[in-house]
Amino acid sequence: MIDGNTNLLGLIGNPVEHSFSPVMHNAAFKELKLNYVYLPFKVEKENLKNVITGANSLNIKGLNVTIPYKIDIIKYLDNLDPIAKLIGAVNTIDLNRMKGYNTDGIGALKAIEEITNIKNKKLVITGAGGASRAISFQFANSAIDELVIINRNEKKAVLLAKEIKNSGLHDNVKYGSLSELKNELSNADIFIDTTPIGMDPNINDEPIANSKILHEDLIVNDIVYNPLETSLIKEAKKVNAKTVSGLKMLIYQGAESFKIWTGEDAPIDIMEKAILNIL
Ligand code: ATR
Repeated sequence: MIDGNTNLLGLIGNPVEHSFSPVMHNAAFKELKLNYVYLPFKVEKENLKNVITGANSLNIKGLNVTIPYKIDIIKYLDNLDPIAKLIGAVNTIDLNRMKGYNTDGIGALKAIEEITNIKNKKLVITGAGGASRAISFQFANSAIDELVIINRNEKKAVLLAKEIKNSGLHDNVKYGSLSELKNELSNADIFIDTTPIGMDPNINDEPIANSKILHEDLIVNDIVYNPLETSLIKEAKKVNAKTVSGLKMLIYQGAESFKIWTGEDAPIDIMEKAILNIL
């Protein structure tokens, strides 16, 4: 029940209408009987600064930030978590401390850790945009052995790999163009595709990798969650590879934000069920 003690959290971005975050967080608050409510706020670019000052004045506890404000928001914050600083983007704000975090990468890491121990593993990641940045930096800060960033525009992969190396988080960071994907996957343990290929409505687009270059010992994660089973995941199933749907990253990034705001461990199963219910 909403009463005089209810704490407010929310999502700022544009658009926000299709976000699963309100459903996922409100289900979790209900389950844990926490007096919080989470709302979506569609924000125009020119109002971004006012939104942060206003939210703080209203004693709103925290915010998620989505497209297109994950980078622009940083200048209005007082503190940044070190990994968010390296990534250069924020998706979660603790308004009490005016501090920004990025839980996208940790969401991907936890999704993979749900089914394997990542220690000494080789990760191949396709794409070198915002999502790849968050995931690559987070895995570079983990126990994996090798990280290979493959991108259509190889220059972007080079730049990202260099930036990660220069950060001192990991030494074994390589890059390549799509022509090297087959070779790099042949001895890889984990493959994460961060490109939008196969996302609704383009569900029949040819996946970035097919069953000919995937193999049984590979864990295949497509961060696209709409549809739940993308063309890449279908190809992975053909070779009996273990698959991780994009929904897992979404849920785990939400769970990390939840912990930052409430201090409580999020009920992962409840969040997943709530999303599956509306999908
Ligand atoms: P996001 O924030 O979701 O990561 P982005 O920053 O636009 O989105 O990055 C999208 C990534 O997917 C890019 O690395 C892009 O490759 P380019 O740098 O070569 O443009 C990649 N991508 C998008 N469509 C692709 C396609 N059809 N084939 C291969 N890569 C694609």
